[in-house]
Amino acid sequence: MAYRVAVLAGDGIGPEIVGVTVDILRAVGKRFNFEIDYEEALVGGIAYDATGTPLPESTLEVCKRSDAVLLGAVGGPKWDNIQPPTLRPEVGALLPLRKELSLFANLRPAILFPALAGVSSLRADLVADGLNILVVRELTGGIYFGQPKGRDADNSRAVDTCIYTRDEILRIARVGFESARKRKKILCSVDKANVLETSRLWREVVTELAPEYPDVALTHMLVDNCAMQLVRDPRQFDVIVTENMFGDILSDEAAMLTGSLGMLASASLGSATTTAGGTFGLYEPVHGSAPDIAGKGIANPLATILSAALLLRNSLLLEDAAAALELAVATTLSAGSRTADISEPGKISLGTADMAAAVLNHLG
Ligand code: IPM
Ligand code: MG
Repeated sequence: MAYRVAVLAGDGIGPEIVGVTVDILRAVGKRFNFEIDYEEALVGGIAYDATGTPLPESTLEVCKRSDAVLLGAVGGPKWDNIQPPTLRPEVGALLPLRKELSLFANLRPAILFPALAGVSSLRADLVADGLNILVVRELTGGIYFGQPKGRDADNSRAVDTCIYTRDEILRIARVGFESARKRKKILCSVDKANVLETSRLWREVVTELAPEYPDVALTHMLVDNCAMQLVRDPRQFDVIVTENMFGDILSDEAAMLTGSLGMLASASLGSATTTAGGTFGLYEPVHGSAPDIAGKGIANPLATILSAALLLRNSLLLEDAAAALELAVATTLSAGSRTADISEPGKISLGTADMAAAVLNHLG
């Protein structure tokens, strides 16, 4: 039986990077003997232009009847000033997608492939052996969604509200502990407990859960200190678990340590189970729609390809295929292939399609 994957290419470089990634998934399917039905749907600015909303109901339906969603990117200057701002692609598509599909756990692995040590923003001796940090970000709560939210009629005051319930903290903390258990068993919970009440509850709940995971070493860190430690000595981290907005910021910071935002994959997971027995999820590169380079065929497709590997692993339980795809990416980089964003003197500079072809080549 074929798996079902919803394909939401979106705006900017979205269609380019998603296009080559679906080709690669088809090739992986042939090699590992599985079949996926791809169903395309509109999201973002292109959906707004066609239907008046960046997240049409029909797109949500396509997602809901799938085992997983592969998303490119949304937004661009053309849609930056849409009124009301709640119809802008970022806020009007991404946030409701996460909420409607109950994707509360955002996994953002920041992996520095050893071949890319030279393009990290950190000194070579700090990242010589590569880096592998997993940021587990809470994705459907906190200040992004709390009510009240809005502005006084006379524009004199604006408000956003940060709310966390015990249950919301508990379920993401569990994802943090479980993820750490599969890795180096070191979990750092990040909060702002010296100032925020939601952070004090966060720290309390995470601490209460710790006895269930005696094999995981838990520490707590204030978010400002964590931002500093990430650039001072990133090797101290294995898994970081944190609330929505801190996770947004820290995952961009962690991403840059790995050389380029163009390398970072992500998985947004809920608790629903797929026909394959995996977890339903949405997979997307951490980078945005990059309107400045859209249509030029030079975008780095690796973050999307690595997101597809996460899709195979988490939603379809195809571990061998996922690992083979990740290995093909690593080998491609070791062999010297580079896109513009990770280019280095003496390496082979490729566009989107050729980079994807190189990965396919290394897939064997
Ligand atoms: C991200 C993005 C989004 C977020 C924006 C585009 C709404 O920055 O996925 O990290 O803040 O979550
Ligand atoms: Mg972000």
